[in-house]
Parts: sequence; structure tokens; C-alpha cells
Amino acid sequence: MIGRRDFIRNTATAAGALLLSRTASLAADAPDSRIEILLDEPLGTISPNIYGHFTEHLGGVIYDGIWVGRDSKVPNIDGIRKDLVDHMRKIKAPVVRYPGGCFADSYDWRDGVGPADKRPRRANFWGDKSETNQFGTNEFVHFSKLIGSQPYLAANVRSLPAAEFYRWVEYCNAPAKATTLSEMRAAAGYADPFHVRYWGVGNESWGCGGNFTAQEYAVEFRRFATWVPRFGEDLAFIASGPSDFSWDWTRGFLEEIARKGPGQISSIYGLALHYYTWNLSRGRTKDWDAGKGDALKFDAVDWYELLREGQVMDSIIHGHWQVMGEFDHDHHIKLVIDEWGPWYRPGSEQTPGDILEQTPTLRDAVFSAMTLDIFHQHPEKIAMANCAQLINCLNSLYLAHEDKFCITPVGHVFDMYSAHQGAQSLRTIFSTPDIHYDRDGKAASFWGLKGSASLRDKDLVLTVVNPNVSEPREAEIGIRGATIQSAAATVLGNRDIHAHNCFAQKDAVHPEAKQLSLEGRNPTYIFAPASVTKLALRLA
Ligand code: AHR
Repeated sequence: MIGRRDFIRNTATAAGALLLSRTASLAADAPDSRIEILLDEPLGTISPNIYGHFTEHLGGVIYDGIWVGRDSKVPNIDGIRKDLVDHMRKIKAPVVRYPGGCFADSYDWRDGVGPADKRPRRANFWGDKSETNQFGTNEFVHFSKLIGSQPYLAANVRSLPAAEFYRWVEYCNAPAKATTLSEMRAAAGYADPFHVRYWGVGNESWGCGGNFTAQEYAVEFRRFATWVPRFGEDLAFIASGPSDFSWDWTRGFLEEIARKGPGQISSIYGLALHYYTWNLSRGRTKDWDAGKGDALKFDAVDWYELLREGQVMDSIIHGHWQVMGEFDHDHHIKLVIDEWGPWYRPGSEQTPGDILEQTPTLRDAVFSAMTLDIFHQHPEKIAMANCAQLINCLNSLYLAHEDKFCITPVGHVFDMYSAHQGAQSLRTIFSTPDIHYDRDGKAASFWGLKGSASLRDKDLVLTVVNPNVSEPREAEIGIRGATIQSAAATVLGNRDIHAHNCFAQKDAVHPEAKQLSLEGRNPTYIFAPASVTKLALRLA
């Protein structure tokens, strides 16, 4: 077993000198916290697809972020940024959503195929720059294949007829030479079908995707998702679902779908759910420019309040799942949380002019780890999740501009957590005192330690967030009925809660790995303040 002293010594080294001095005083006391991993209570397999991504023709996401062009001096593979491809392979990116977002419901897929020099220039939904269409379906699917991931395409329900959706499916999936559209694909160099399985039927159809009522959208969904050409693919249709606590959307949509007969439910693979966090407490509003919290300028109270807002994801999942069960008793339809993450006001862009770009800090890494840990608790409910958005945008894993590229603290979390993909999620109980703080004269609190555990053969992965901005937390780790053969820790933390990576300082926040030596019967571990920790434990 892992000896307590060794854990303390090793953790202190991994987390830095500051922690070493703090842990020295704690080592004498019994830990006030306990993590119990219940090996015999599996919750289900963690779908690799909950580690999915989202990319939209918006700001610097596609152009400059993913696409640099074939003639670029920036290292690229067929026009796609090479650094990005390399890192996304490393994190085992399973699925990427495209082309939006709100952009999807104004996009004509035909504009983005055919010879590049013949593609039209169009006004972009976001209005910041014109859309050159140099990156379209072929380039996106090629990008997906390069990184070893599956494409997830969102259809235009607001401004194109259903026939255009069928044609897009045909363009992607019809066998070589079978149709005019598959020949068009072949002419671009892609004779083999793209085998696109995941299709979003619109996006935010209650808002930018058509301003429909739930009932109106259900009628559209039926029309779009019925008798779609399949070409032997097991197509998975994802309906545009609710945002936040909009139970009425979930109920109204499913009620209308089910009204046509029980068989209708089985035509839906997933219900999309969007949940952004805006750091809204303390009198803030969702105002585009000034209302929300700031990505870089925040205090400890903002830190806890953002996490508190993010923790709500758990009840949102529970709530919609319960409503879905009213119409879908067997829970055939799963949740697809295809947009999530913090969304701050403008001002922290690394590339001025990139709309919706923000600089993720250690706070966003802790937030993202917490969110992924929440997803692990619901393997039977969540089929897919897509962090918004991959690069040069909201909760991005990467920032890039011309030849500059860096991995954000969020990117590091995806790397650390990739070990959970496809593993068996285990019920894990965290018993720890809450953190108490003063929210502008009002007493407030937040949990002291949380995380998740998963098992694959003899490999147990425990990921833990310590949200405390200044105090380490020592916890005893109980794994009943198993002995630990070897253990390694990876810690992402920093003394400064605002720490972030940028082009000038790419490595300010980076994970530190440490092999842990083993002895004794009661392993304990000291989790560094404001940190994300992965313990990789090999069971005997
Ligand atoms: O991610 C940015 C935007 O947020 C998406 O386009 C839209 O779906 C959501 O409102």
C-alpha cells in the first residue's frame, strides 16, 4: 500500500515548494477527508465521446486555429495546423462537432465543397469577417480522420429545406460512383465514403436555430430525420435540446414526438443539452460585452462562484433525464451535452479581433476537470459531450495565431483525463469538510474535494479536484478489497489561481508527473491547493 509519508513527500514535490511548507504542518494530524472507491459498484462504461470537441466558423476557430492553408509557412498537414493534429492525437480526441453552433443554421454545405477557388464568399453568421469557404466538409472530415476522431455534423434546419440535409448525408456517405454527389466527393480526392454517423438536426432551435417552439421544432425534427438515405450507416440523429433548466423544452419536444406514436422516440439517438457558465453572481448579467465575469481578473470569491455555477451541471443532467423518462421509459435517448464551458466577457483575447476568444486560466482547468468528473457519474445518461470550443474561442484547449501555438490549462486536463475514456466508472464517495467563504457580506460555501474513479483491468484512475484557493487537503484513500502495486501522480496546479498559458509563456501551467513509492496500509494523499490531480494506481 502507499505509505502516508511517501504520499506526502511525493505530492509536495509534484505540487511545488509552497505546498511543501504547508504540508509539513499537516502531516502530523489525521486527515479530515476520505475518498472511498467502491470497486464492486460499477456505474457503467465512460463513453470516450464525452471527451468530444466543438468547432464553429466563428472568430479564429477554423481559420488561423485549425486551417492555416496548404501554402502556409506554418507547419501543416494538407492545410491543417500540425501542432493541433499532433496534440489532439495525443489526447485521443474521439469526436468533433462542426460547423456550428449558430453558424450551422445559416450554412449551405454546398458552399464548402468543390474546387477551392470556385467556392463563394459569404457573410458569416457572426458578422466579424466574410466566410471564404476554404474549409468545408472535405477539409473537416479530413481533419477528423487525421486526429483519429469521428465527425459530428450539424444540419441547417432554419434556412435550408430537409432535402438539402439528405443531399449532405448523400455527399458524405454514398458509396463511390453511386451518385452524382459521391462522384463530386471523389473528384475532390475522397472516393471512399466519409461514414459520418452523428448528425445534429439543427442547433439551439429555440433561438438562433429558428426561434421555434418545442412543438414546432418537433415537427421539423420528424421531417428532417425521417427517411434519410442511410447507405448502410447506423445514423445517429441528435435533436436540438434545451439550454440550462429549460425543462419545458425537453417536455414539449418529447411530448410532441411521442404523440405520433411510441416508435418515434426510437428515431432519436441523443438530445443536445447546452450549459454555459458566466460567473453570474455578484450582480452580473449575461450582457454580451460587460455583464459576465472576466477570464483573467477575478478574486477568490469569483473562483468559487464560477465553480458553484458549474457544479449545477449535475442537477441539470438529473432534471432533464427525469423529464426524458416521462416519455422514453427505457431511456433509449441519451444526453449529448454538445456545448459546455465558462463564457466570459471580451477582453482576454490572445489574438485581438478574434470574437468570443478568451484566455483559459487554472480556474478553467479546475472547472473542466470538475465537469468531466460530473460526466463520469452519469455514464448511462451521457452519450457524448463537446467542450465549447476547441481552439481560439471560449473554454479552449488550444490558442494559436499564425505560427504561434500553445496548450491551455484546459488542454492539459483533457490530456490527463484521457485515461478515463472507455473505462468502467466506479461509485466514489468523497467525505470532506466544505470550504466557507464570504460572498460580499453573505456566508457561502463550496465542497472541499471531489472527483471520480474508473477501472480498466487492473488500472485504477482517480481524478480529484481541490478547489480551495489556498489550502491543501489531505485525504485517506480507501480501496476495499484491493492492494496497490504501483502508483503515479500527475498534478496540474500553480501558486497563482490566475496562472495561464499564452504565446510568450506557453508553460506557466503544466502537469507535473511523479512516481510514488509504496508502503503501509492506509494511503493518504495531500491534494495541492487549486489543483487537479490524477492518481494512476495499478492494482495487484
Ligand atoms: O459557442 C458559441 C455559441 O453559443 C454557439 O454558436 C451557439 O450554439 C451557442 O449559443
